[in-house]
Amino acid sequence: MQKPDAFNLSRRRFLISSAIIGAVTALASNPLTAAMGNSSRIEDLIKRMTLEEKAGQLHLEAILSPKMADSDFAKQNPWMPPTTLEKTLAGIAAQLEKVRQGKIGMLTTPMDIDSLIKAQQVAVGESRLGIPLMFGADLIHGFRTVFPVPIAEAASFEPELARRTARAIALEGTAAGHDMTYAPMVDIARDQRWGRVVEGAGEDVLLGSRFAAARVRGFQGDKLGTSDSMLACVKHFAAYGAAESGLDYAGSPITERILHEVYLPPFQAAFDAGAIVTMASFNTIDGVPATGNQHLLTDILRNNMGFQGMVMSDFESEKELIAHGFASDERDAARLALSAGCDMGMVSGIFPTYIPDLVRSGELDEALLDQAVRRILYVKQQAGLFDDPFVRLNKARDKAPLPKAHRALARESAVKSIVMLKNENNLLPLPKQGKKIALIGPFGSDTRNLNGAWSPFSAETPSVPLDSAFRHALEDPSLLTVIMGCDIDAPIQGGIEQALSAAHAADVVVLALGESENMTGESRSRTELTLPSVQMELAEALAATGKPLVVLLRNGRALTLQGAVRDASSILLTWYLGTEMGNAVADVVFGDESPSGRLPMSFPLASGQQPYYYAREYSGRPALNGSTAMFKSHFIGIPDEALFPFGHGLTYGDVSYAATQCSADKLSMNGKVMVSAQISNKGSRAVEEVVQLYIHDRTASVVQPRRKLVDFRKVKLAAGQSLTVSFQLTAEQLAFIGQDTKAVLEAGWFDLWIAPSARCGEPAALNLTRA
Ligand code: BGC
Repeated sequence: MQKPDAFNLSRRRFLISSAIIGAVTALASNPLTAAMGNSSRIEDLIKRMTLEEKAGQLHLEAILSPKMADSDFAKQNPWMPPTTLEKTLAGIAAQLEKVRQGKIGMLTTPMDIDSLIKAQQVAVGESRLGIPLMFGADLIHGFRTVFPVPIAEAASFEPELARRTARAIALEGTAAGHDMTYAPMVDIARDQRWGRVVEGAGEDVLLGSRFAAARVRGFQGDKLGTSDSMLACVKHFAAYGAAESGLDYAGSPITERILHEVYLPPFQAAFDAGAIVTMASFNTIDGVPATGNQHLLTDILRNNMGFQGMVMSDFESEKELIAHGFASDERDAARLALSAGCDMGMVSGIFPTYIPDLVRSGELDEALLDQAVRRILYVKQQAGLFDDPFVRLNKARDKAPLPKAHRALARESAVKSIVMLKNENNLLPLPKQGKKIALIGPFGSDTRNLNGAWSPFSAETPSVPLDSAFRHALEDPSLLTVIMGCDIDAPIQGGIEQALSAAHAADVVVLALGESENMTGESRSRTELTLPSVQMELAEALAATGKPLVVLLRNGRALTLQGAVRDASSILLTWYLGTEMGNAVADVVFGDESPSGRLPMSFPLASGQQPYYYAREYSGRPALNGSTAMFKSHFIGIPDEALFPFGHGLTYGDVSYAATQCSADKLSMNGKVMVSAQISNKGSRAVEEVVQLYIHDRTASVVQPRRKLVDFRKVKLAAGQSLTVSFQLTAEQLAFIGQDTKAVLEAGWFDLWIAPSARCGEPAALNLTRA
């Protein structure tokens, strides 16, 4: 690999000096360092660092680049104060001086590789100790190629797909110099008002844990430290998704038992898969901010979960301890966050400003600071940066064309993310010829809402809109009429009239409705989960024409579907699918592919049911079987049910499930049984079916969820094929978190279901016995 000259010199100096030091320094006795592999280099550095250099390692800031003075940058980042090239260059010089003085440990959101190379040259060649910088950014569901938003991809129920897309993101991201991505987001989200539902894998603990592990494996590849391995920063630790009333940044008023039962397992799965970085969350848990929460970041994370890597704050969350009313000022906030176990501060700068003096004054033990530095250097070492600080800074790789396979993967993952919620009279798939189609709605020809939240880097790869993909798919494109009808959230003059005349002239209406990209994501909580009223009016007007109606929903959370939208013959959930969105939707609409996605979260009947999730406990007065009787648990006039349950999704086949069978009716505490059911496809098309295994513990010392997913598998069924699908069930899978927050296995009766969704039929019974 071609390296800049200055680096070759400085790198040699760096490597030689560290090799000598490494040889003479005994391995530290600290148990943490002992587990950290080759730590003599790290221990030696810590010994030689000044307090300012140590605090510098704890600081992450945004990298400056000459690109910031471009007019394009200003257009893409309208919230940034306008700047000039002169000011930007002065800013860059000042930032490089900080790097030279060892006052920055990590830089975020690279814009161009030259700036990274320059900064790294200064870090390793001109700073006193030559400690390399690390570069990170939010590469959440794509970089140059955009894959479906994470919630959509979770609908594939195919963790291996998420591993593959994460691998592709890592290949593209590391080629542009990224050492780390602030992903995956593994927050379980059970309140659809929360805008960040779009960034996770939905409401279920098992599904969330499998996707968490798969994404980590994808980002990091087979071996950390290689040029295409990108560190995963698992976020947000913890319980960010439990925000009260779904309001972003609000507190999570949950118990420690629920923390262990619901919110921690996906993190554990990610750590077990090799993640060594996590991000502390913005929220409080039971009144204590996560970023200043010693019990969470030290007792639970490190001591119980065995995490040995580094914790970074989330964008100033260490400073926000003041706004919470937890710290009195910045100095106090820095002390509290570091003492709690937060190693690196994102952007605020309070760590480098206050920590040296806090140590000098004796308010902070230097050992705590050393511990944080040690963890950060450990992560840099694992990322391969001590062996080669330029391992991911290769101009030729940065300029190389994108692998063709990424585009194909974008289409495959988009197709697999689509969920067919309804398909009366098999209206879908539509024929490619012989029928006039009116594609109506604000998303028919939209090009701005295809990628979803967190896709800021993909401008050079325009995503495919619906209209052009439909034209391309149809044998006679003149059969397609495209009309907007209304804007996303506002009427357009004459819109409904134009839509009606297009509908009257067509055989079928395809209505593209939904949320704009910026109605989901960070800081995008909603009070109502309905479609904007103009879109509902358009749907009502079109339904009155009596033409068959297919609704294509574009959204990043579960919605409450009402009126003509709910009653449409067919509904496809198409999310934000990224680069290949239009083509993937066309593949399913015109039947080149059969839909196979399943809901990773329940679609409620009404917004007021939130938080709504399938794994709720029964109250003492459950409203069973859709009852709306008085003195039972339901909202007035609304059954305690979902419109579409978790796990639901149809195919172009005709799939049915026979009764669930269990190989024994008793299970010992260390035993296992086989649970099976025959699944048949009586349809005329091959399908992929997501077969799900649910349990219910009838009596337990902590009331158990009415249904709990314990396994799932995607199977292929040819037309007319029947298949017996079997799951091995171990006693361990029947465990839950007890009152003392520890996992417990209790004897008693369990119901078991193999089912196509959380709405299950008749269970099989199993007795877990002590014998
Ligand atoms: C978000 C994080 C993100 C960070 C850096 C924060 O506002 O909560 O998820 O990684 O910004 O962009």
